[in-house]
Amino acid sequence: MTTTGVTDFDIATLRARRTNKWHKFPAGVLPAWVADMDFGVAPPIAAAMTRLTQNQEYGYAAREGVLAEAFSRRMERRFGWRTDPADVVGIGDLVQASFSSVMAFSEPGDAILLQLPSYPPFMRAIEDTGRRLTPNPMRDDGTRWTLDLDVAPDPRLRMMIFCHPQNPTGRAYDRAELEAVAAFAMRHDLIVVSDEIHADIVYPGNTHIPLASLSPEIAARTITITSATKSFNIPALRCAVMHFGAPALKQHFEKRIPSRLLGSPAVTGVDATVAGWDDGQPWLDEIMAQLQTNRDWLAATIAAELPGVTFRVPEATYLAWLDCRALNLPVSAGQFFLDKAKVGLNFGETFGADYAGFARLNFATPAPILKEIVGRMADAVRKR
Ligand SMILES: Cc1ncc(COP(=O)(O)O)c(C=O)c1O
Repeated sequence: MTTTGVTDFDIATLRARRTNKWHKFPAGVLPAWVADMDFGVAPPIAAAMTRLTQNQEYGYAAREGVLAEAFSRRMERRFGWRTDPADVVGIGDLVQASFSSVMAFSEPGDAILLQLPSYPPFMRAIEDTGRRLTPNPMRDDGTRWTLDLDVAPDPRLRMMIFCHPQNPTGRAYDRAELEAVAAFAMRHDLIVVSDEIHADIVYPGNTHIPLASLSPEIAARTITITSATKSFNIPALRCAVMHFGAPALKQHFEKRIPSRLLGSPAVTGVDATVAGWDDGQPWLDEIMAQLQTNRDWLAATIAAELPGVTFRVPEATYLAWLDCRALNLPVSAGQFFLDKAKVGLNFGETFGADYAGFARLNFATPAPILKEIVGRMADAVRKR
C-alpha cells in the first residue's frame, strides 16, 4: 500500500484531535466506526477557516444565497443536475433534515418505508416522531445488495427515506434501480427523502445519479438532502442543504416547520462547504485514489486472511459492511472485534435488529492504520 501526502497521519496526531471517533473507545482500541475520515481537509477549506479567524469574523453573517448557489453549481458540475437555488434551504445537518421532513410530510401513526440495513438515525427519525417504520430489507444477491420493492400494501404509507449511495452497503444505485424507486414512489403517492450525502464518494465504474434528476414528476415529490461533510471531512462544522424538487414542497415544509425553529448553518460550515464544493476537488481526487486503494486492499485481505467474513465490495462510500455470520460468534460481531481485536467497528445490530452478525468498518484511514486494524481482526478470528 502507498500513502500520499494528504493521507499521511499517524495515530498520535489523530488521537490529539478531540473527535468522537478517536475518543469513544479506550486508548488501546483502534477506531474504525463513525463516518469521519482520518485525513485532513482540502487546502481551500483550511484557507477559508484561517480567513474567518484572522479577520475575527464572528458577527452575524452576510451570506445570503451563497450556500444555495454553491449547491447548484456543484450539482450541475458533478452530476449534470440543474437546480434552482430558490428551491434550497440551508440547515445544520442531515439528521435534522430527515427528522424535520418526516414531521412536515407525515402525521403520527403514518408509515414510512426504509431500506434495511439502515444508517441508524433514519430509524430514530421515524420512530421518535411517532411514525411507523415499514422495514424494507435489501437482498444480498451474492454479488451486491439489491432493492426489493415488493412491499405489502399499507394505506397509511406516506413517505420513503431513501439513502443513495446506501450506507452501510455501499451501493450506488444504477439508473434502472432508481427508475424503479421513482415508479414505486409515484404508484404509492409517496414523498421521498433522498439522502445523497455520499454522492461524491463513488468509485470508477459507477455513477451517481441524483434521484430527483430523473424526471420532473419524481422531483416534485423528492427532498434531496446532502452536504459537503462526508466528502470534505468537515462533519463538526454542521452545514447541510435540503433541496425541494418543486416550489410547493418547499412551501409545505416551511409552513409546517418554522424556519426560526430550524435555525441555520453557522458561518464556519457555510464557508467550508463553499470552499470544498467550489475549489476542493483536486484534494478529493487524491483522497479518492487512496480510498480505492484501501478498498481493494481490504477486499483482497479479508478474502485471504479472515475466513468466515465476507463483504460486497462497495461501489461508493468508505464503509465496508462485513458479514461475519459464518463465524458463529456467541456475541455480536461488533462486540467480538471490540473485545478480542481491540478494534471499534459500528455494531451491525444498530443498523436493524437482524444484523448482529454484521459490523461496519470505516476504511478512510491511512494505509498503515488500516493494516493494523485488519491484522488485529485476523488474529482475533484465528484465535477464536
Ligand atoms: C447516510 C448518512 N446520512 C447522514 C449522515 C450524517 O449527516 P449529519 O452529520 O449531517 O447529520 C451520515 C453520517 O455518517 C450518513 O452516513
